[in-house]
Amino acid sequence: MMQLPKIIQGGMGVGVSNWRLAQTVSKLGQLGVVSGTALDQLFVRRLADGDKDGAMRRGLDAFPFPDMAKRIWDEFFVPGGKAANQPYPTTPMHQKREIRKVVELCIVSNFVEVFLAREGHKNPVGINFLEKVQMPHLSSIYGAMLAGVGYVLMGAGIPLHIPGVLDALAAQHPSEYNLSVTGAQPGQDVAMHFNPADYVEGPLPLLSRPRFLAIVSSNTLATTMLRRASGRVDGLIIETPIAGGHNAPPRGKLQLSASGEPIYGERDRVDIAGLRALGVPFWMAGGYGNAKMVREALEQGAAGVQVGTAFAFSRESGLREDLKSSLLAKAVAGTGVVFTDALASPTGFPFKVAILENSYSQPEVAEKRGRICDLGYLRETYATEDGKFGYRCAAEPVANYVLKGGKPEDAVGRKCLCNALLSNIGHAQIRKDGSVEPPLVTVGDDLNTVAQFLAPGSDSYSAVDVVKSLLSLSQDLALPAEPVLAATA
Ligand SMILES: Cc1cc2nc3c(=O)[nH]c(=O)nc-3n(C[C@H](O)[C@H](O)[C@H](O)COP(=O)(O)O)c2cc1C
Repeated sequence: MMQLPKIIQGGMGVGVSNWRLAQTVSKLGQLGVVSGTALDQLFVRRLADGDKDGAMRRGLDAFPFPDMAKRIWDEFFVPGGKAANQPYPTTPMHQKREIRKVVELCIVSNFVEVFLAREGHKNPVGINFLEKVQMPHLSSIYGAMLAGVGYVLMGAGIPLHIPGVLDALAAQHPSEYNLSVTGAQPGQDVAMHFNPADYVEGPLPLLSRPRFLAIVSSNTLATTMLRRASGRVDGLIIETPIAGGHNAPPRGKLQLSASGEPIYGERDRVDIAGLRALGVPFWMAGGYGNAKMVREALEQGAAGVQVGTAFAFSRESGLREDLKSSLLAKAVAGTGVVFTDALASPTGFPFKVAILENSYSQPEVAEKRGRICDLGYLRETYATEDGKFGYRCAAEPVANYVLKGGKPEDAVGRKCLCNALLSNIGHAQIRKDGSVEPPLVTVGDDLNTVAQFLAPGSDSYSAVDVVKSLLSLSQDLALPAEPVLAATA
């Protein structure tokens, strides 16, 4: 019988839920989830920093295709690490017709992250992707599957086609994934293609199909996922708008409060009885980071909860120490402020931002940073008049964005999350003029409640403390039931 986790440590990109955090949580028998977002970029930066603890090397040594591992090591490893004032190397941005090196970086980096998270125990580990970051999906998922990932979790969009991709890749079949392309002509091939045979060295390795959990925000989306997905959906994560990271926009016409935050109403409320009736395991997320809420969710029939913010501040997370301690101090004082920014993310989804001095949450920092787009994970793909594809980001220089057919009003207030999120975890890009990319921390509305995990006199806590505390009022409740699997479409 399969035992389901009561606690899922949510995926937190970029690199906040890294292999260390996920390994710690999975070792406890709960589900640790690494973030798969922009891992290719993070991998290059870890190698450029000299891989000081040797973890990347260890992962590469276990990678089943040694020639590919060697190519990447030879190109990106900097012995002793790059000088602090040197910029990180750049890699070509993702595009519909991917460059082989970029695909290889995705396969390898996703393999290594999952491999490391699985070291030293036999429990499952998950990987999280954002549906909106579409181009790296196939190669990234394949890399994670080569390392034996147990669960794939995906939200920030409607990941209807991922279950079928998991089936295809588990069978080592060529797979494809349709990109959302603005202005695509009927019949235009908008699919990303990936054939494992093009990358494998030696015989095809045996792979098993990970479980798939869709992250959704409403009963309607939950039902859509189960009815229309291209393969089996093994469970649902129901994320409310107080969760950290990106949030689903409110249903209906977007209305903003006086301070500029999206207003959520009755229509955004989740009906838990309706979820139970769907007959698949579900986990509640968004404000469930305390023992009382965990118990409440279990009593209401959830298999458990997914928690992010509480884990983001644990010692094991990838968040920069200075950012962790400044925000923890605010949480202890009860003065942490989180703003749901309707504009910041180029995806157009609301994005939660912790208000923090010297970070990109401050208008003067945003102004000084200006507009640069050199990573491009959140670019929108559009069809050009000659039947080709173009890419634009609402946070790139406005003139470029408009030249590519973007509307100037869509560029207002957008921020470069790609660079900011890498800065959050200590891999900030250095610009030619010596300036350093500013951080922009995302956390849930419950920021101040993380103070509960600090033992008296201590200024840090472990993910182990979080898991123990979350489960402390639920010991008497039975383990979650074996899932009733949703019908395949
Ligand atoms: C720092 C941070 C980064 C996050 N990044 C992602 C992400 O990359 N993908 C995703 O699906 N959810 C992301 N989330 C959401 C979490 O996985 C989780 O669902 C959410 O944090 C739960 O709500 P809570 O913050 O109230 O615990 C992020 C949350 C935080 C705090």
